[in-house]
Amino acid sequence: MNYQEWLKNKDLEYQNGVLHIAGANTIDLAKKYGTPVYVINERLIRERYKTLKQVLDSENKNNQIHFAVKANTSLSVLKILLSEGAGFDCSSVGEVHTCLKAGAKPEHIIYTGNMFTNDDFKFAVENDVLVNLDSISQLKRLARIHDELGKEKKIISFRINPEFGAGHHVHTITAGKEIKFGILDNQVIEAYLKAKGFGFKQFGTHIHIGSGIINPYDYDKAIDKYLGIIINLADTLDITFEFVDFGGGLGIPYRPEEDPLDLEVYKEIVVKRSKEAIEKMGMEKPAIKVEPGRYLSAEASIILTQINTIKNNGYKLFAGVDAGFNTLIRPTMYGSYHHIISCLQNEDRKEMKYDIAGPICESGDILGKERTLHELQEEEYLAILDSGAYGFIMSSSYNSRPRPAEVLINNGEDMLVREAETYKDLLKSQIIPDHLK
Ligand SMILES: Cc1ncc(COP(=O)(O)O)c(C=O)c1O
Repeated sequence: MNYQEWLKNKDLEYQNGVLHIAGANTIDLAKKYGTPVYVINERLIRERYKTLKQVLDSENKNNQIHFAVKANTSLSVLKILLSEGAGFDCSSVGEVHTCLKAGAKPEHIIYTGNMFTNDDFKFAVENDVLVNLDSISQLKRLARIHDELGKEKKIISFRINPEFGAGHHVHTITAGKEIKFGILDNQVIEAYLKAKGFGFKQFGTHIHIGSGIINPYDYDKAIDKYLGIIINLADTLDITFEFVDFGGGLGIPYRPEEDPLDLEVYKEIVVKRSKEAIEKMGMEKPAIKVEPGRYLSAEASIILTQINTIKNNGYKLFAGVDAGFNTLIRPTMYGSYHHIISCLQNEDRKEMKYDIAGPICESGDILGKERTLHELQEEEYLAILDSGAYGFIMSSSYNSRPRPAEVLINNGEDMLVREAETYKDLLKSQIIPDHLK
């Protein structure tokens, strides 16, 4: 795929010398809303959802996509996905609460927590939200909380750790013996047997092997192992599963030289094989569930940031901007690559190599290292691409810098969907004790 196509695939295009997102002029947006600002493209979220849904439907219509809310909890994003028919994967009570507020029904939600507290369980059980357990030890407390609340023990699921993990960074690989998530092969029968013993009536299974998987063959071994485990489980305990969940992890092309994830191969490995395995188990019922976060929302958002400093220290050229790792932490936290482009089409200028540096008082606050860009000038604007997953949601107010606003583009119209924090917001939850007043 050539560079222009790669950009176009993210609904980005230069028109009359200015970068446009979903047809909206990025320089006008930056001036109207101030910078840094997250700009979200509704059309692209819908498009990604529809594409994935079609691929899943083409093999097995009994499927459900659960958006992994940890990638993005903007209520507008959740409502867009809800209107497309998505369910949600939540990792905390806060996320479950947000999804319910966005209008999701409890049955749309899977709550895959880890290190659940009793309060977490109480909230889930009171709200009839399915809990996907992470440890056999948690079962007893969950069962007791059902009894205390007088709730029927309907459905339960366990996160299985198939030991083959994958991901863009060691911290996002979520399967393997050393990894804290899920239960290993040798505990699976015991887990479901105990769940039956506690009176749970219906069962699902779940894996999530990691995040940022751009090569679909990385799922291969994990899926084989998982299917083997659940076939054995169904056989041994005579269980009929309500659903078989394959987690998320679907990657996106952050770099211009990367192609999008090959969904046809993903389908072969995940959906086709699981359909065959499910048929082997003699089950009609189980729905196939997948839980993409990044795939659905990452490419739909950019950060607009203004250049405030062009600094040549004699060794290196820095372009200083008003977004930093407080705005987007992935480059600093994972060494992740986010493509950064000028909002002005300035190809007539000479090429230079810049480190794009944020304003945070730490030398790790570099959003892009050694980036070749046409000569930049102070007060111009840059766009940081693919910031719609693990972007705003991981932002902070470090260095007392208020979090930025979020703007949604729909049908050529721009609308503020989250106000920027204020200095007042930064202080609002602090209480000064009497002796310091
Ligand atoms: C249980 C679970 N499901 C889904 C996801 C979504 O991952 P991604 O955004 O890579 O699709 C995660 C991410 O960590 C997860 O922990």
